[in-house]
Amino acid sequence: MQSSLRSFSGPRIKYAPDDSPYESITLDKLTPIIGGEIGGVDLRETSNRQMDEIHRALAENLVIFFRDQHLTPEQHLDFGRKFGDLHIHPAAPSEPDHPELMIIHADKDSFRANGEGWHSDVSCDSEPPMGSILYIRKCPPRGGDTLFANMYAAYEALSDRLKEYLEGLTARHDGEHYRGQYKNFGIQDKESYPSADHPVVRTHPVTGRKALYVNKGFTRYINGLPRDESDGMLRYLYEHMANPLFQCRFRWQENSIAFWDNRCVQHHAMWDYWPHTRSGNRVTVKGTRPV
Ligand code: SIN
Repeated sequence: MQSSLRSFSGPRIKYAPDDSPYESITLDKLTPIIGGEIGGVDLRETSNRQMDEIHRALAENLVIFFRDQHLTPEQHLDFGRKFGDLHIHPAAPSEPDHPELMIIHADKDSFRANGEGWHSDVSCDSEPPMGSILYIRKCPPRGGDTLFANMYAAYEALSDRLKEYLEGLTARHDGEHYRGQYKNFGIQDKESYPSADHPVVRTHPVTGRKALYVNKGFTRYINGLPRDESDGMLRYLYEHMANPLFQCRFRWQENSIAFWDNRCVQHHAMWDYWPHTRSGNRVTVKGTRPV
């Protein structure tokens, strides 16, 4: 039997990453398939050349990381604005006077932590976020890593027959599970949370590549299929996407930043550090309707 790691003619996905050099930044790839750590840049003062290369590094690596950054909340927001208008989370807490600066925090008294489970941020929005820029300031002594998975690679590793089956299907994404999730921050529930239909396979507006766009956090069912078939198909896709072949795992240090592209990446945050504290802020950049 074939695994998703290999076929009868070598690996099911054959990646030949572009290794052409960068001039104004350094790039250290975490894996050939996803993730790159950028060096030689202070995000408080980036040159145009560095910004061009950061855009290129994000497109090629899907999630990029920066270490030892010292941004004020305004500088964090300004960096996000270089990529588009900023998104306001429909449920999560934010910093006073900064609705676009989402609070990411878990400590010994938390009953949940953000992002525990594979998802693409706020995919229940009709125009889900393009990217998320997470700045962690306080880390536990160990743990609290974030895993990222490449949804182009997950799509490309499917058989042609399955790709054909998924073509043109849409799925329902729903944010109702936000209800009650932030009560420990004193947040009252809204009357309703967003929901939207999106293609199961979306085409990235910048790279033109196809990516799987269903996720365990938000997707409820595939439209137009009997519910048992939809459940079975989603179960298979979630299992397939979670193959370590498609992943990298980022070990945080204080003052690190991760910037991921929600259009082609899913992520999963580990809450393995209780009773310690992990906290920071996320700036999220608005996206467009998936097609
Ligand atoms: C999230 O934005 O989903 C949380 C990610 C993390 O805390 O690593």
